Amino acid sequence: MNSFGRLFRFSIFGESHGPGLGVLLDGVPPGISLGAKDFLPDITRRRSGAPGTTPRQEADTPLLESGCHLGRTTGAPLLIRFENKATQSRDYEAFSQQPRPGHADWTARVKYKGCHDPRGGGHFSGRLTLGLVAAGVVAKKVLAGVVIQARLLSVGGRLDQEAAVSEAMGRGDSLGGLVACRVDKLPPGLGEPFCDSLESLLAHLLFAIPGVRGVEFGDGFAAADMSGSAHNDCIVDETGRTATNHCGGVNGGISNGNPLAFQVAFKPTASICAVQDTHHFGHKRVEALRVGGRHDACFALRTPVIVEAAAALVLADLVLLHRGPC
Ligand SMILES: Cc1cc2nc3c(=O)[nH]c(=O)nc-3n(C[C@H](O)[C@H](O)[C@H](O)COP(=O)(O)O)c2cc1C
Repeated sequence: MNSFGRLFRFSIFGESHGPGLGVLLDGVPPGISLGAKDFLPDITRRRSGAPGTTPRQEADTPLLESGCHLGRTTGAPLLIRFENKATQSRDYEAFSQQPRPGHADWTARVKYKGCHDPRGGGHFSGRLTLGLVAAGVVAKKVLAGVVIQARLLSVGGRLDQEAAVSEAMGRGDSLGGLVACRVDKLPPGLGEPFCDSLESLLAHLLFAIPGVRGVEFGDGFAAADMSGSAHNDCIVDETGRTATNHCGGVNGGISNGNPLAFQVAFKPTASICAVQDTHHFGHKRVEALRVGGRHDACFALRTPVIVEAAAALVLADLVLLHRGPC
């Protein structure tokens, strides 16, 4: 559904063009210093504005509506809300009748019997990741000392990201991208074998980010083509440090104390300027669709901080489980 975590649990709420959106966090330890300014660096990294991102500009001011008093978390549920102001909902009216290919218009229509909010993609909008990023800021504080860093490796398979995006936009098209994430100073012992393995939990939340099409740990799919002698990470000291990190810092579903390393593949934006043929439910035939509205030509550009947030939320929950409840 829209919630995740056991001791450190969050629920995402809101829509792209409704009054607002945000996140409710439960299990936040008391006494963590927290104010609106703490959210600014990560919120800024997620913002649009760069070439290839949506022209929609929102203030994205975090409103801390509960669970925070005198600049510290209280231990009560923490509600962080953001307002939507820069909406242009008329651009999305047609998609109820003629769903965009590659977006969630059709699946939302069939699952919610047409009751969903289609404006700006509604609850399926990438804007909902603002709540995830805000929750990630709190999770990173819970993980003090652990260093999580994600970066965009390539766009449309190319390293010259700006040129790739600009050429795609010139064609009225979109591109995806590949994000690498590395977590340093993560203690060993996090994660459980089988169903709650560290990889399963991370993949669960990473795939919750709209537009994610693949997640791989360490060498990932390339491991299938390697020999054991090439893939094994030899342990070189009593801390469990390994000479290489082909497995990405996880063995048996449990962190091994080496850097946690994974990559996330984002698809190209579904909403493109080029005309596409797709079924019109009102007219009962396939017709040409020109998608209006404001969109990211390459939303992957904005995702490294979202990937960090997802990782931080999973890891904070595991660290608190390791420590035991407050
Ligand atoms: C930060 C961010 C921004 C996004 N912006 C757009 C956008 O402008 N237009 C679009 O069609 N999809 C955008 N997406 C992707 C859609 O939200 C996503 O493709 C859609 O919800 C369907 O989900 P799926 O791709 O996981 O199947 C964005 C995703 C993220 C994470």
